Amino acid sequence: MKDIFRRKPIDMLIAETKGKESLQKVLGAYDLTMLGIGAIIGTGIFVLTGIAAANYSGPALVISFILAGIACGFAALCYSEITTMVPVAGSAYTYGYAALGEFWAWIIGWDLILEYAFAIGTVAIGWSGYFTSILESLGITLPTAITKAPFEGGLINLPAVGILVLITYILIKGVKGSTNTNNVIVWIKLAVVFLFIILAVGHVKPANWHPFMPYGWNGVFSGASVIFFAYIGFDAVSTAAEEVKNPQKDLPKGIISSLIICTVLYIVVSAILTGVVPYYKFKETSAPVAFALQQIGINWGSALVSVGAICGLTSVLIVMMFGQTRVLFAMSRDGLLPKVFGHVNLKYHTPVKSTILVGIVTMVVAGFTPIAIVSELTNIGTLTAFMIVSASVIVLRKREPDRPRGFRVPFSPVVPILSIAACGFLVAHLQAVTLWRFVIWLAVGLAIYFLYGYNHSTVTDDNHGEKVI
Ligand code: ALA
Repeated sequence: MKDIFRRKPIDMLIAETKGKESLQKVLGAYDLTMLGIGAIIGTGIFVLTGIAAANYSGPALVISFILAGIACGFAALCYSEITTMVPVAGSAYTYGYAALGEFWAWIIGWDLILEYAFAIGTVAIGWSGYFTSILESLGITLPTAITKAPFEGGLINLPAVGILVLITYILIKGVKGSTNTNNVIVWIKLAVVFLFIILAVGHVKPANWHPFMPYGWNGVFSGASVIFFAYIGFDAVSTAAEEVKNPQKDLPKGIISSLIICTVLYIVVSAILTGVVPYYKFKETSAPVAFALQQIGINWGSALVSVGAICGLTSVLIVMMFGQTRVLFAMSRDGLLPKVFGHVNLKYHTPVKSTILVGIVTMVVAGFTPIAIVSELTNIGTLTAFMIVSASVIVLRKREPDRPRGFRVPFSPVVPILSIAACGFLVAHLQAVTLWRFVIWLAVGLAIYFLYGYNHSTVTDDNHGEKVI
């Protein structure tokens, strides 16, 4: 009987990254910050702000953004410490392996598969929505059969599948190529966010901010749980750890600066949005930022914002798919998933087969599944991963106090505990049905672990450190 809590020593994790099938070390702090912003600003600000303002937060959307931002800030500090200790692909999954043992690592990895696959599906469907609406403004209407999923009256969401084919191709070509593409797109995305701020700020009517909390504090909290999606992505920076030139300095810089930049932009944009348009009007639109500009009569600005949103969603897709393949890569290297996910193509230095597999699975999700079912699960998967990472910081401070850390969470264990509490609070404000779906997902994951991963794991009881619990 093997010990399901066997841990993977950190030195072993680092040594494994130095083989022939290793990833290229080409990324710096700037690339990482752009990778973070690329993943962060997307569906959350361009789509979910309207839903959250109209149904949950009202003009207090800005408070929801601040609350979710605080939870993410605590989690980002924890990620920064642990990622500089264990600069290995795989993110929270790998940290869990080092700190809490294989069983928890599997749970996190399984969780991250949920987070990324469903986030990719959600964002691709959102991309398709913007794409078809731009075509419509040019007088081209695509038939519903090829723009909607079967349960929504169509046959397949073809634009969503199409963008995923393109993203899969870009990622196969190589990391440097894809980060260069990403950097350009992120600049376009930031430009349209600033354009919105400049065009709309003069049209704010403070009367629109009353009543400030039409659904009370509970609405504000639920709004925070919904727009938490807008912050997802800074954690994806850590999935690139193995491809960073100077991980000790660059990873914390990339994680923290991308989160700070996005938080500030979100607060400003959400305050302006709700100041320009009465909150209940956002019920009418799935493109609130463009809609707000239309409402004040700046149609050219609205069109530009839509194009920028398309770019923004594209860069989210790049980073999310990048993150997904790196998590699978790490899990396969440990034997918890079949070898095919860990194979690195010697010509491109990228995990080509795994990228294609992820591409196909997410195309099926995006092409045939209604957005409402998949999007809710992304948040709970991510929040759970954040909580386990924060717990890992506390455990590793005890277990490996002398290991060098490029960054240390201030006031540990207070900040990691606050991180766990804040993320747990957001989970508690998600819908009950989401919790149940998550439990089913975990049950399926456990079945796979005991039928496959437990027996194929390359970490043996001889090479694990001291036992957990
Ligand atoms: N934070 C990303 C978005 O808003 C996932 O689309």
